[in-house]
Amino acid sequence: MKTTKIQEGKDLEKKSSFSGSLGFVLTAAGSAVGVGNIWRFPYLAAKDGGGLFILLYLVLVLTFGFTLLTTDIAIGRKTGKHVLTVYGSISERWNFLGKLTFIVPVIIMTYYTVIGGWVSRYMAAYMVSGTKTVAQDGYFISFITSKIAPVVFMLVFLAITTLIVYAGVEKGIERFSKYVMPTLLVLIIGVAMFSLTLTYKDSNGVVRTGMQGLKISLLPDLREMTFGKFLRILLDAMSQIFFSLSVSMGIMITYGSYVRKDTNLEKSIWQIGFFDTFVAMIASIMVIPAVFVFLGMEGMSSGPSLMFVSLPKVFEAMGEVGRFIGFAFFLMVTFATLTSCISILETLVGNFIQVLYVSRENLCLIIAVVSAVAATVICAGYNILYFEISLPNGQIGQLLDVMDYVSNSFLLPLISFLTCIFIGWIVKPDLIHDEMQAEGQTFKSKKLYSFIIKFIAPPIMAILFFQSTGIFKF
Ligand code: PFF
Repeated sequence: MKTTKIQEGKDLEKKSSFSGSLGFVLTAAGSAVGVGNIWRFPYLAAKDGGGLFILLYLVLVLTFGFTLLTTDIAIGRKTGKHVLTVYGSISERWNFLGKLTFIVPVIIMTYYTVIGGWVSRYMAAYMVSGTKTVAQDGYFISFITSKIAPVVFMLVFLAITTLIVYAGVEKGIERFSKYVMPTLLVLIIGVAMFSLTLTYKDSNGVVRTGMQGLKISLLPDLREMTFGKFLRILLDAMSQIFFSLSVSMGIMITYGSYVRKDTNLEKSIWQIGFFDTFVAMIASIMVIPAVFVFLGMEGMSSGPSLMFVSLPKVFEAMGEVGRFIGFAFFLMVTFATLTSCISILETLVGNFIQVLYVSRENLCLIIAVVSAVAATVICAGYNILYFEISLPNGQIGQLLDVMDYVSNSFLLPLISFLTCIFIGWIVKPDLIHDEMQAEGQTFKSKKLYSFIIKFIAPPIMAILFFQSTGIFKF
């Protein structure tokens, strides 16, 4: 009976794969490009002195980012396993790491659809109400604290995600990404170019232009720089890389397991990293100059409220055209969030198939229902379940922030640290080298990879972990 079930599970697992390298690159880039690129990257860049943050991010993405992404994708393709069993299939003692990693997408799924609901709400508001309503003080708070609207938008967002994943990897996810990712690129480049042409004279008669804003966003601000501040910026860039590339959360392992052996992994990995970084940079060119022009230097330090509070004020100040730009902006954020959410749901589906032996279609529906319940509880975190808690990293948060803290600040650096130890020191990087050269391809960055995974990544991950748990303070 057990053997039949396992066989059944294997048959169910085997169906999924990408049609080729383009589909894989665009789908993985779809997971990587999300609110992290369009919202978090620009606000961190604005807060952390523009150019310095961007420079550090670029160096880190070319070294760490590449190493972590390579590890996830290569190990997924090598073993053909999903995250739950991936490490155990190499070494029985490290089975726990797969289980630990799997907790991350489970947690993220509970709140990512809530954020998806928020961004689609804003997109709809630009379509039907216009810029004035959305820019009103308190608009965001009154929306997220209301009992019904956030749940309705979350459910619509979740239903669309489920439909795409239900249709399968090639026919649903890959096909959707092939249309949406290029559209997103065109939209973001268009709005960024528009942002650079902006000029505004404020009530004091000061004229600010988009090009001045661009200069501020690109030139490193080294005034009052201290070692502690530098380290903080470095760690901000580091944690942004995890989140942005969707690494150490099982997603890229799952996608890696769907890649064909004749795909040149190294080339694809550089392309995914390039796509993700390019979108983040263009998003900064789109957001920072626009905020600078209309809200000045003060607006640039608005932090996480940048997207839902500051930008609507910017769109309002743009006049008539602001409604169209606001709609285009939230349309692209909705697309970006959708492709990321798809990758989380697919990871859950792909993994649960291994343990529950239910068809992917049924699983998809079951997980969607459970996620809907969990996300409704998260929405209630802003009304009936409202509380304020101080998190170990110093932030004050509600339920959604607690989930985000546990998955992104606590688990991600810990999992990355353990993965680097496992690959770098226990099984040795040759395992990854061999996979990268599976069909005679050359792995050009082999030495860089081995050096980082063994010597550089583990101590930095440890520092990041201690910093986010509040054990170290800078
Ligand atoms: N990489 C996405 C972003 O930058 O917004 C975020 C993300 C996607 C996080 C998928 C987690 C995830 F499972």
